[in-house]
Amino acid sequence: MDPATRTFGTTRRHVAAIGQGSWKVEESAADSAIESLRRGLDLGLTHIDTAEMYGSGAAETIIAKAIAGRRDEVFLVSKVLPSNASKRGTRAACEKSLARLRTDRLDCYLLHWRGAYQLAETIAAFDTLVRDGKILSWGVSNFDVADLDEVVAVAGAGHPACNQVLYHLQERAIEHAVLPWCQRHGTAVVAYTPFGQSTTAFDARTRQVRVLEEIADAHHATARQVALRFLLRRPEVFVIPKASNIAHVADNAGAVTLELSDAELAKIDAAFPRGRPRRGLPMI
Ligand SMILES: NC(=O)c1ccc[n+]([C@@H]2O[C@H](COP(=O)([O-])OP(=O)(O)OC[C@H]3O[C@@H](n4cnc5c(N)ncnc54)[C@H](OP(=O)(O)O)[C@@H]3O)[C@@H](O)[C@H]2O)c1
Repeated sequence: MDPATRTFGTTRRHVAAIGQGSWKVEESAADSAIESLRRGLDLGLTHIDTAEMYGSGAAETIIAKAIAGRRDEVFLVSKVLPSNASKRGTRAACEKSLARLRTDRLDCYLLHWRGAYQLAETIAAFDTLVRDGKILSWGVSNFDVADLDEVVAVAGAGHPACNQVLYHLQERAIEHAVLPWCQRHGTAVVAYTPFGQSTTAFDARTRQVRVLEEIADAHHATARQVALRFLLRRPEVFVIPKASNIAHVADNAGAVTLELSDAELAKIDAAFPRGRPRRGLPMI
């Protein structure tokens, strides 16, 4: 298998471990956002994450332009809002996402977070969409262990394909229960907000950042590349940093070939402790 890819949960597809997020992509200049996404594809960041929620569809429209003529290269993921996740509403939302993305299929379709509709309704819609070839797999996002157990109770083993969750160096709560659950069930873990959304967290002169920088220097790498690599140290995990700046995309892609030793991983683990288990799954 190409070292840049790994098996995406129960789908058995080989998917880029480092992908591209798209939340707030519409807030950047359209040219820069599209150019960055395309550059990301050139560099192998072919797992693209979006949602009907992002810019109320505007992110999907931008992605359509970025992937025009290159659809087959991309593992394309979108999400249905919980407020649309009835049986009929999920199918309608998917059709709208497909139209905005100018494609005939999604590689994976997620429930964005748990809402008021019965999970069985949403899953029934996902099954119909799979049967119709409109989605190739389905997963969930922001699901804690009890929710994941309910998915298996409704849909049976082999589901969900993935759980997309908040995971970065300063927020490692999923390591207590959600990540082990996903490992046991063959579910991919997609780490969202892998940089903690912060524009300064990696530039500050803190002891934590110095640990990342020392390791980065030893590899002619950057602190952000080291951070991504730490999150990817387990084979079930994927990361989807968002970057609308072409230099940022190139930086993120540079993490593909970085390899950290066990001693380096241990230093990062000590500098960014995962903390004690807390109630509830953190999300943003
Ligand atoms: N399922 C969910 O509930 C959920 C929730 C949140 C996010 N997500 C998904 O996860 C994706 C990523 O999370 P996120 O957008 O919240 O945060 P993020 O990827 O942790 O951070 C994005 C920010 O980091 C900057 N950045 C990216 N690469 C950089 C680099 N190499 N050097 C310096 N700055 C860099 C970006 O700037 P520029 O844009 O200027 O390059 C942007 O300001 C989202 O876009 C979305 O697709 C899902």
